[in-house]
Amino acid sequence: MDLLEVIQSHVLLSSVAFLVVTFFTLRFIRDSFKVDQLYRRHVLITGCDSGFGNLLARQLDAKGVPVIAGCLTEKGAEDLSASTSSRLKTVLLNVTDGVSIKKAVEFVRAEVGQRGLWGLVNNAGISIPIVSATLKKGKGRVVNVASILGRLSLTGGGYCISKYGVEAFSDSLRMNMEPFGLKVSIIEPGFFKTAVTNPKMIENDLERLWTRLPQNSRTPMAQHTKAQNFSLGILCSADLSKVTKCMEHALTAYYPRTRYGAGWDAKFFWIPLSYLPSFVSDFVVKILLPTPKSP
Ligand SMILES: *[C@@H]1O[C@H](CO)[C@@H](O)[C@H](O)[C@H]1NC(C)=O
Ligand SMILES: *[C@@H]1O[C@H](CO)[C@@H](O)[C@H](O)[C@H]1NC(C)=O
Repeated sequence: MDLLEVIQSHVLLSSVAFLVVTFFTLRFIRDSFKVDQLYRRHVLITGCDSGFGNLLARQLDAKGVPVIAGCLTEKGAEDLSASTSSRLKTVLLNVTDGVSIKKAVEFVRAEVGQRGLWGLVNNAGISIPIVSATLKKGKGRVVNVASILGRLSLTGGGYCISKYGVEAFSDSLRMNMEPFGLKVSIIEPGFFKTAVTNPKMIENDLERLWTRLPQNSRTPMAQHTKAQNFSLGILCSADLSKVTKCMEHALTAYYPRTRYGAGWDAKFFWIPLSYLPSFVSDFVVKILLPTPKSP
């Protein structure tokens, strides 16, 4: 009776609450349908030496999925093989080398046979041209790892440009492949502790560029790197499984989502921020990741 009174006196609020609850319930139900027979759905993952790719390979292997793990180095491949089941196959794959891609595609073809490849996870930064070659005709999944840096340019250099490229490529691929039943998902992780966000590596990279500048345009970097270190320390999550869970959903759900924001920072901060006017996002970014002052 009390509840009824509350609803009657707050009709608008109650309607909104009802719609929100209904939306999330329906989405939860929709998300929970899974494809069957995972044990016969081959998945190729690139960049399995470390980070997201490595964790995803182990995670899917543990669930019985036949994984083909592309590794850049022999050491990476050996380490992964040693700690996974015999179902998981590794293949040396350097995604910047055409010959290496060709060899890996041949390996995958032989491995999957008539069944074709069910899923391709482009995790190593560059999408390998395998869609027409091996993916199961009329079905299958492509999962491309972009970043919140494909929505907001927080740093200079090529990284954001390449991630914007992944977003654009995935959007066109999704629309072009839809008539054929191939589903394309984009993963947008926030900040996680991987090689990309390792402060030492970022600092070395900055230093390399800095020393190339003409003397008179060099500004002191120490303060800048310190601020960056501080921000990265606060922002980076060590729980990479937040990202690999999204990847697994994109590969195994009956209705994969188009986009997955991975991590609290991506979901509730960076992605909403990317929808706001540039003057707002510029202001926020300047506070979090200050740029060096002019001399
Ligand atoms: C990957 O291929 C590129 C281009 O051929 C080459 O420059 C690079 O050294 C290769 N990396 C490894 C680890 O083999
Ligand atoms: C930033 O962090 C790296 C490694 O965590 C460290 O080597 C470096 O000295 C730090 N730089 C500054 C300016 O604090």
